[in-house]
Amino acid sequence: MTPQEIKENAKKYVLQSWSKQAALNPIPVEKAEGIYFYDYDGNRYTDMSSQLVNLNVGFGNKDIGDAIKEQVDKYCFIGPAYAAESRVKLAKMIVDLLPDTFGKVFFTNAGADANENAIKIARMYTGRKKVFSRYRSYHGSSFGAGNLTGEPRRYPLEPGIPGFVKFFDPYIYREPINFASEEEATKYYLAKLREQIIYEGPDQVAAIVMETITGSNGIIIPPKGYLPGVRKICDEFGIVMICDEVMAGWGRTGKMFAFENFDVKPDLVTFAKGVTCGYVQLGGVAVSSKIASYFDDHLLSCGLTYSGHPLACAAGVACVNYYQKANILDNVNKVGKVLAEKLDAYKEAHACVGDVRHIGLFSCVELVKDKETKEPMVSYGCDPQGIMGKIVGMLKERKFMTYSHENMIFVCPPLIITEEQLLEELEKLDEVLGIVDKEYI
Ligand SMILES: Cc1ncc(COP(=O)(O)O)c(C=O)c1O
Repeated sequence: MTPQEIKENAKKYVLQSWSKQAALNPIPVEKAEGIYFYDYDGNRYTDMSSQLVNLNVGFGNKDIGDAIKEQVDKYCFIGPAYAAESRVKLAKMIVDLLPDTFGKVFFTNAGADANENAIKIARMYTGRKKVFSRYRSYHGSSFGAGNLTGEPRRYPLEPGIPGFVKFFDPYIYREPINFASEEEATKYYLAKLREQIIYEGPDQVAAIVMETITGSNGIIIPPKGYLPGVRKICDEFGIVMICDEVMAGWGRTGKMFAFENFDVKPDLVTFAKGVTCGYVQLGGVAVSSKIASYFDDHLLSCGLTYSGHPLACAAGVACVNYYQKANILDNVNKVGKVLAEKLDAYKEAHACVGDVRHIGLFSCVELVKDKETKEPMVSYGCDPQGIMGKIVGMLKERKFMTYSHENMIFVCPPLIITEEQLLEELEKLDEVLGIVDKEYI
């Protein structure tokens, strides 16, 4: 096909996620390497969002490619009931990376079904039905994960699953209360959560599900003591604590798993994205030994044809090995510091930047019309004039490829990005924010 035919057929035959289809204009991609991809005219684009915050190791990783080829030569598929070497190896690697309270892994195809199965496991284990999750969250778009999700992508599924209860995030920037300290904020949010659980009936609640650090809804980093406090509430009432690490896990925050930043041990950890970086899709639920052992003599009523797909697991083994071989965490911490300094400076310099939030290479810029009142650049859940699309469009014109959500622009480059590459791209962001200062507020 010619590049033009690829684009036309993409528009004609492929339904694209989360989009009104008519206005789409997909770039035909010819090749990709490292943090860059190229169209057929030789234009180079920089991947400043790691695609969907999944392509942590960038394009063209040879170790992962070779591992996939090797597995293809052995066998591409064998059912979940068999002991496949790549599946077993990856499960052991994941358990070894997690705290010693973890015992086993249930593999899924991606992040949404990881969360679906985590809920099922928590319900089976506790014999309870209710599930708490937060408003500013995205946990996937399948029916269960979509109901778990709190943000507007939940609306088309409603009225949803009975017993799915939402609570508010520790989103300090937008809290009407002016907290004197992080600890004070933590105290407030935990007291509210505990109260809500009591009102819902603590012996009805199977699980609390949280993105350890909220991703798509604005890199909301929990204040000091918040997650250990949730852990305490879970322990008090016998509730399963589930951390969704689909986006925040696998080195993104400078630790292998985001919860390691907060001195807490969840009961279940869901993962996907960075476990294979999409070289083959894979997700899963890591399960504590205590909960895993419950299923020694109780039926684990979960199943997927492709649970622990050997090809995906081979990619996962190579990918996790690569994180270690390339000292990815060191790079995230080193380059993440530069990113933090620059974003903090943009917050000072630009009238349109209300807040910036960052940890490792996980960051966003929250745009406002008025810094004092914090009036967001677009209202929650609606942007009829496509303002954020226009702003992201200006970045795209400069080949800075990322996406926005609500009034936020995400800067989550591949974890292999160098300081020089980052600085080159951030200049473009700075320039666009300058235009937004002049033309949009
Ligand atoms: C935190 C979180 N959980 C779950 C998902 C769903 O993952 P998937 O799209 O692989 O189903 C996502 C996707 O962006 C996510 O960010």
